Amino acid sequence: MQNSSEVQSAVTALKKRLSLSEKAPFSQAAHVGLILGTGLSGLVAALHDVVRVPYAELPHFPVSTVDSHAGVFVRGLLEGVPVLVQQGRCHLYEGFSPAQVCMGVRVMAGMGVDTLIITNAAGALNPQFDAGTLMCMTDQINFTGRTPLAGPNVDEWGPRFPDMSCIFDPALRALALDSAARLGIRLERGVYIGVHGPQMESPAETRMFRQWGADAVGMSTVLEVLAARHLGMRVLGISCLSNKNLPDCMQPAPLEEVIAVASRAGRQLERLLMDMVTKL
Ligand code: HPA
Repeated sequence: MQNSSEVQSAVTALKKRLSLSEKAPFSQAAHVGLILGTGLSGLVAALHDVVRVPYAELPHFPVSTVDSHAGVFVRGLLEGVPVLVQQGRCHLYEGFSPAQVCMGVRVMAGMGVDTLIITNAAGALNPQFDAGTLMCMTDQINFTGRTPLAGPNVDEWGPRFPDMSCIFDPALRALALDSAARLGIRLERGVYIGVHGPQMESPAETRMFRQWGADAVGMSTVLEVLAARHLGMRVLGISCLSNKNLPDCMQPAPLEEVIAVASRAGRQLERLLMDMVTKL
């Protein structure tokens, strides 16, 4: 469903909270938005003039039940560039609807964000990709069985049948690859498949996903990307590969390990984003 009146009231509340803050005179709207996934909150420490607004203070805004997801909007300056950060997200596997999962993206658009960088922790399906490295998403497969675009269309947001022939912005991808090469950061390129979760994949499922052309698998991102493209935002997707997911030698990937390895990759992601942000 497309919950435009709920989104509008959250936008109004967020604008009010930010304008009440003495800390930062936000004359300039942030046009860059960031969604930080599991274990990737470290970037917030690099922001200046920070104002935090917990999701719980915004009407209708869903609050994640997962410990590793903070649940705050953070407005601040990254290398002098105003950014709006969603620190923590909601997932389908928690029982949230697609509209709730995508509320952050739609609120960001309402706040003036037109360039969105979506991050996540993901399992590597491509045997050549190592845990602890980053992957720039070249395309996605939505295998959740859900979409945030069902129901009556909100024409002010976007068209009934949004095009998905080029989901991730080629110029943003080129910028990310260029920054990574200059900084000596390994940045793989590949297709992300989004699953519903919360169960991890069986060997037969990972074999199938790999045969379908996916390079990494995770339980987030795909619906947010669909909502963002519907809204006409430019999108960049970066996965932190937290574990290898290979059908013939599968290992359990406990959450603690996923968080620890994703945070390690997250430090490289921070360097990458700090380098890119002034060029967006
Ligand atoms: N599968 C699904 N989601 C994930 C994984 C995985 O292997 N790793 C991190 N998130």
